[in-house]
Amino acid sequence: TPISWSADGAKRGGFRHFMLKEIYDQPQAIEDTLNHYIDAQTLTIRRESMPFTKEQAQQVENITIVACGTAYHAGMVGQNLLEQLARVRTHAQIASEYRYQDTVYSANETLIAVSQSGETADTIAAVRKAKNNGHRIVALSNVLGSTVAREAHAVMYTLAGPEIAVASTKAYTTQVLLFEILALDLGNLRGLISERELQDCLRELLRLPGQVRSVLERAGQVEHFAHSMRMCRDVFFIGRQLDYCTSLEAALKLKEISYIHSEAYAAGELKHGTIALIDETTLVVATATQERIFLKTLSNVEEVRARGASILLITDKEIQNEGQFQDIWPVPGMRDIYSPIPATVYVQLFAYYMALQKGCDIDKPRNLAKSVTVE
Ligand code: G6P
Repeated sequence: TPISWSADGAKRGGFRHFMLKEIYDQPQAIEDTLNHYIDAQTLTIRRESMPFTKEQAQQVENITIVACGTAYHAGMVGQNLLEQLARVRTHAQIASEYRYQDTVYSANETLIAVSQSGETADTIAAVRKAKNNGHRIVALSNVLGSTVAREAHAVMYTLAGPEIAVASTKAYTTQVLLFEILALDLGNLRGLISERELQDCLRELLRLPGQVRSVLERAGQVEHFAHSMRMCRDVFFIGRQLDYCTSLEAALKLKEISYIHSEAYAAGELKHGTIALIDETTLVVATATQERIFLKTLSNVEEVRARGASILLITDKEIQNEGQFQDIWPVPGMRDIYSPIPATVYVQLFAYYMALQKGCDIDKPRNLAKSVTVE
């Protein structure tokens, strides 16, 4: 089966680090995952690969997504997409919080656990707690037969192949992809997305490997920008909604491997505290790919510019005053719901090149483990 692999079989394949190789694996990982879930001939989702039957999809009332680290950020994207496309109340929560929380449940609860390894202790504990409460469990995992996958009632696998670098890259983008497919499927089964619309969405989704390749072709620009920012000590990533999820993942990636202080803020929240930290030495990375809130994010950019920050903009929209930005990284034009994937590839490359010029141990950052199997 395409989803059983051995870690020993993974080679760096000419790349300097596993992380860089895995960033470049993404078009293929995305394509393999798409092929597993979508029939490109008929533009339909393969029913047998999906965790909800039509009846279950129509009955589901509440979804809680639990995960740790990068997988939690994928869960936040999932929350956004499931509410937007499938209109199911969804809440993403950190597994270590969920497991000790005195939660109020509703009658029909589904828990989605996201875990690349399927062996993270807190995520397993969250799954067991939900199971004891009689909830239906769906797992998203990259490892065939992992603990989380075995404990679940249904599993969706990412077909990312082995991920060796501690900092997650292709597992993350394929987890986000699974949520795209799941949200479209539930939206369709719940009567909110017509067959025709679904086909349009899937046709466009199948273009994603090419869009990610076009981001990878700009790696030189990212490396150049990272070089110009080599003295930078604080980076703030801002965005709203799906762009906020990308910002969270960007900040985590950067601090994990380059040890540069970075934080993510929901752009509208900046003025409630963080803006006090912004000065001429700060880099602000604004991600703005969502039409509905694009101008709102740009007005937050104005606020930080007024305080002298350098600004990098990641966007798929037309920009009038290009000169105001230190750099602009163009996200290929797709439906806004798909933008988190190509936008994330940029911030992965950025973290990589920042860490590279600092001489960090990129594949094995200090104090971190690939899989945290103890509490
Ligand atoms: C560790 C890794 C992270 C990962 C997290 C969750 O902290 O360093 O990269 O996101 O665990 O791992 P999982 O295997 O559950 O997705």
